[in-house]
This record gives sequence, structure tokens and C-alpha cells, in this order.
Amino acid sequence: MLKIENLVKSFTTDNGSLDIIKDISFTINHGESVAIVGASGSGKTTLLGLAAGLDIPTSGKVFIDDVDLTLLSEDDKADVRNQKIGFIFQNFQLLPSLTALENVMTPLELQGKSNIKKHALDILEDVGLKGREKHYPTQLSGGEQQRVALARAFVSNPKILFADEPTGNLDDKTSAHVENLLFRMNKENNTTLVIVTHDPLLAKKADRVIVVKDGKIKTD
Ligand SMILES: Nc1ncnc2c1ncn2[C@@H]1O[C@H](COP(=O)(O)OP(=O)(O)OP(=O)(O)O)[C@@H](O)[C@H]1O
Ligand SMILES: [Mg+2]
Repeated sequence: MLKIENLVKSFTTDNGSLDIIKDISFTINHGESVAIVGASGSGKTTLLGLAAGLDIPTSGKVFIDDVDLTLLSEDDKADVRNQKIGFIFQNFQLLPSLTALENVMTPLELQGKSNIKKHALDILEDVGLKGREKHYPTQLSGGEQQRVALARAFVSNPKILFADEPTGNLDDKTSAHVENLLFRMNKENNTTLVIVTHDPLLAKKADRVIVVKDGKIKTD
């Protein structure tokens, strides 16, 4: 379960304080799939980063399974992320000095799992990257990097998966395939999905759509 309570995020700029997230609250139950939509600049990426404990709110609370992330140390938050959270960044954030395979193996190494290479290879094949395992991120196209990022998020079988425009760089066919993988995780593993998207068709597949406008929830 993910519970957001009265979340506020402000940035200090040369022109004073800028409120980006303005008192947002919602609860997402375990196994739910939720699309977050809204105009560019409305605060979707900021909201996702706060919900996943990657960013610190100005005020408000973020609970994952009844644990308040805002009260945890950075180390404890990292533990919660390793154990429960998968995150697909809008700009992928692959580690440039690691190959595709090594990038995908990283979360499993952090969890101290065994037999990780085989598992990572299987997931890379699932996202259509067989034969690209040894490529470094700079040797991959944007869509291929996005699929490595997806594989890295899928590999640890997270309880809750945050995806920031996971199909933003993909062609129709690959995008349909990636959508299937996301919703398969949701159905088969009961993975909670929180997906930011500009794609109305992807949003329609989710159980619920949250529309963000100017840092607030417009409709839920
Ligand atoms: N560190 C920061 N300092 C100041 N302003 C910021 C910072 N990070 C984000 N913003 C501002 O917050 C607003 C929301 O940004 P955010 O990235 O959350 O939007 P978004 O809804 O994800 O947009 P897009 O659909 O284009 O990805 C933007 O106007 C952005 O300029
Ligand atoms: Mg964004």
C-alpha cells in the first residue's frame, strides 16, 4: 500500500519559493494499477520521486506499507527501495560504465540473491534485448536503453513499480510489448503499478487514472 498525505514540494529559486506539489493526498492499494497523467510541467515526475522516497518533501507524509518514509534515514530508505520498490526513470539513469546485463543484475546483487546472471538474461530476453547484453548504454538506442531500465526494474520483482513514461521512447509494437509486460506483472505477481504517461491508451488500461494539474489533483 502507498499512502500520500498532504504532500507539498517547494523549490527556492532566484524569484522566491516555487510550489510544485501543492497538498496532494491519495492512497493506492496493493495490486492496483494507476496511471498519473497531466500536462508537461504539472509535477508528475516530482510526485513520483517523492512517492518512491527518492526525494524529500517540503511537508507531508509518504507511507509504504505503513512505514513513513519521511521519518527514515537515507540508508533505511534505500533498504525499503531495494526490498520493495522498482523505479523506471524518465531519463533511464542507467549506469554508463556497466553493460546492459550488469545494469540489470545490480538490484539483485544489492539484495544478495544467487543465480542472478541467468535471471537477468531471461528478463533481457523478455524485453527483446537478446544479443545486446554486453552493450554499454552509449551503444544502445534510446528505446533500447529504456528497455534495459525496464528490465532492471522488473528483475527484483518489486511490490510496487513506479514508471515515468515507460513507453515514451518506444515504437508502437515495442510499446505494446512493454505494456503487456507491465500489466502481466500486475496480474501475475500482484505488483502495484504507478505509471506516469502521456499515452491515453496506456492510461485506459489502468484500474484508475489520477489527473495532475498545476501541482494538484484535478480528478481521481
Ligand atoms: N529542482 C528543481 N528546482 C526548481 N524547479 C523544479 C525542480 N525540479 C522540477 N522543477 C519544476 O517543477 C515543475 C514540474 O516538473 P516535473 O518534472 O515534475 O514535471 P512533469 O509533470 O513530470 O513534466 P513532463 O511531462 O514534461 O515530464 C516544472 O515546472 C519544473 O521546472
Ligand atoms: Mg516528467
